[in-house]
Amino acid sequence: MKLKIIFLASVLFMNWTIVFAQDKAIQSNKEMNIFIDALMKKMTPEEKLGQLNLPGSGDIVTGQTASSDIGLKIKEGKVGGLLNIKSVEKIRDVQKVAVEQSRLKIPLIFGMDVIHGYETTFPIPLGLAASWDIKLIEKSARIAAQEASADGICWTYSPMVDISRDPRWGRIAESAGEDAFLGSQIAKAFVRGYQGDDLSKNNTIMACVKHFALYGAAEAGRDYNTTDMSFQRMYNEYLPPYKAAVDAGAGSVMCSFNEINGIPATGNKWLLTNLLRDQWGFGGFVVTDYTGINEMIEHGMGDLQTVSALALNAGVDMDMVGEGLLTTLKKSLEEGKTSEAQIDQACRRILEAKYKLGLFDDPYRYCDIKRSKTEISTPENIQAARETATQTFVLLKNENQLLPIQKKGKIALIGPLADSQDNMAGMWSVAVDHNQSVTVLQGFKDAIGDKAEIMYAKGSNIVDDADLDKWVSSWDRPSIDLKHTPAELREEAVKVAANCDVIVAVMGEAAEMSGESSSRSDISLPGSQRELLAALLETGKPVVLVLFTGRPLVLAWENKHIPAILNVWFGGSQSGNAIADVIFGSVNPSGKLPATFPQNLGQVPIFYNHKNTGRPLADGDWYHKYRSNYLDVTNEPLYPFGFGLSYTHFTYGDLKLDQKALIGDQTLTASIDVTNSGKYDGSEVVQLYIRDLVGTVTRPVKELKGFEKVFLKAGETKTITFAITPEDLKFYNYALQYDWEAGDFVIMAGGNSKDVKSAQVNWMK
Ligand code: BGC
Repeated sequence: MKLKIIFLASVLFMNWTIVFAQDKAIQSNKEMNIFIDALMKKMTPEEKLGQLNLPGSGDIVTGQTASSDIGLKIKEGKVGGLLNIKSVEKIRDVQKVAVEQSRLKIPLIFGMDVIHGYETTFPIPLGLAASWDIKLIEKSARIAAQEASADGICWTYSPMVDISRDPRWGRIAESAGEDAFLGSQIAKAFVRGYQGDDLSKNNTIMACVKHFALYGAAEAGRDYNTTDMSFQRMYNEYLPPYKAAVDAGAGSVMCSFNEINGIPATGNKWLLTNLLRDQWGFGGFVVTDYTGINEMIEHGMGDLQTVSALALNAGVDMDMVGEGLLTTLKKSLEEGKTSEAQIDQACRRILEAKYKLGLFDDPYRYCDIKRSKTEISTPENIQAARETATQTFVLLKNENQLLPIQKKGKIALIGPLADSQDNMAGMWSVAVDHNQSVTVLQGFKDAIGDKAEIMYAKGSNIVDDADLDKWVSSWDRPSIDLKHTPAELREEAVKVAANCDVIVAVMGEAAEMSGESSSRSDISLPGSQRELLAALLETGKPVVLVLFTGRPLVLAWENKHIPAILNVWFGGSQSGNAIADVIFGSVNPSGKLPATFPQNLGQVPIFYNHKNTGRPLADGDWYHKYRSNYLDVTNEPLYPFGFGLSYTHFTYGDLKLDQKALIGDQTLTASIDVTNSGKYDGSEVVQLYIRDLVGTVTRPVKELKGFEKVFLKAGETKTITFAITPEDLKFYNYALQYDWEAGDFVIMAGGNSKDVKSAQVNWMK
């Protein structure tokens, strides 16, 4: 009885708090509407268009903003916000012009590409995804928001949630990889981390989900290229992460550069209004990508006036850099090509965002100079970046337990990325201070002290072509050695290595070889690095490859010849320390691949959740005439989605289902015993996959539906359980209805997408 009363009281309390929170939200929305109504009544049409304008920030010099070009525009009310300014003083200065010298004193919104950390840089998003640790990812976004907001920024162009199955596309580095389920969990984590529970707090920032939509499906992996896709594939395999971010409350959405089935995203009314607003209920604002409107001229959609009206009418609210909306909409309005209501709506959405961020209460809310001095690059944040990085590394091979290596004897540290501060943080590190990045050489020295000797040699350039080097090395800081030939560099390194007990080769891509406009048609180890590796192997010493990369690479040769490979992506500013932590064994690697590594480029696109075809090849089998396969390579990837080794070994028991047949809204419990049967304590990501055997449309051979990262002491066993409901069986059918279909399902669990234990269940409606 007593328990019942307590239970009822707590239910009442919970309900009351929900009602109270809803009331509060309605009340504050009401207040916001009254405020914005009043403000918009005072605005001229030009001032409304000004709010839609997000120009390039130009060269802002603190103290001289008011008289600069951009300052003049701000005074005239022609600017709604600015992007990518790093310096709280500069931002304060610009804001001052807006709120003191423009007629209506409307504050500006300040955005930045805070993609994987701010000054304290975390691993690139593809690396973060490899941690499969949602809380950790949320924490990295929280820290990024804390630091960015202490430096004047209140809006970030992140998370990037584009699904990509094509490693030629450089921006796969900014994504969570190939899977919609994993991508959706990560998308939500980023939004929560940035926005917290109250956007108006001075340490939360507004998220901007990008790039809406399907940017990662660019034909041939060439950046900005066309996408053309069936609606079934779109809804089931590409759209879920955008929707997840919207459902998590992301305040803004950025449209993508690409066209979708013939209409560029930036002018696509189906995408920006029917889908985003009508179907998904998005209530925030939509910003274009950089000159996205202007680029519709090249797409062949008309002149600037036409494409600007097209974008606005489609649902764009803010124009990044191109100024098409600012300069042409007045004319379009006069000619009846757009409406005042459409302009008002866009303007209102921008003002609402500013209101929610608390900028009307205090335009300097994010401009606390004291905070910028005390809350950025703190020892705690740096430590968090280091710990996070260790969780993202993926051990791809470890023959004879070569890793971890002991701190003794002579260790050769060879390779163009071993002592390369500029390349540690990875692409899109707008706010990073490279001088604070820890190189692998430095990390090794600090970890080893005087216990062992480290012998370093560069050994090769990242790429041997000086022009290419300019593009792919961190901007303005070329890394090529023009004083020595590749052969000289290699010979020197081999001499050093031959004298050591073990060789750690630190190689891979330069930071800017992935990211925007960094597509590659050859995704193998670049330049003369492969030759260097081969030469190092010839010394007969054991070789460990520490691989930097922003994408899956083709590593067939390396996998065949190199005994140990640790894939470290780009680990952020603490890369060197984190790599030392893992190489010397103070942290056991636990990362799992969020994207498939192919055997060769011809297999691309290759992904785990493909369809079966009518002529499938049996798993592990090789060529059969008239089967769906290749003459020259098997259908298997080199490393499958979800794959990653550990210094210890995990053994899986059988998969147990608590029922063999279910009806309707029941819950199925799947459980599996996982044993740490090796010598080290370690974490394992246990993955749950489901296959729907028969459908009204064809279904993938498996789909990730759950995962849990579990820590096991050496010798320990834990039972991992997954609760499966019909919600997990739903998909978009041919009519794009989201539902599940009765029938037989194969439930699978394991440590990667290939090696799974399975059991079958029948589930009727
Ligand atoms: C990129 C966006 C980015 C924007 C602003 C564009 O080139 O595609 O991802 O947010 O620039 O820097």
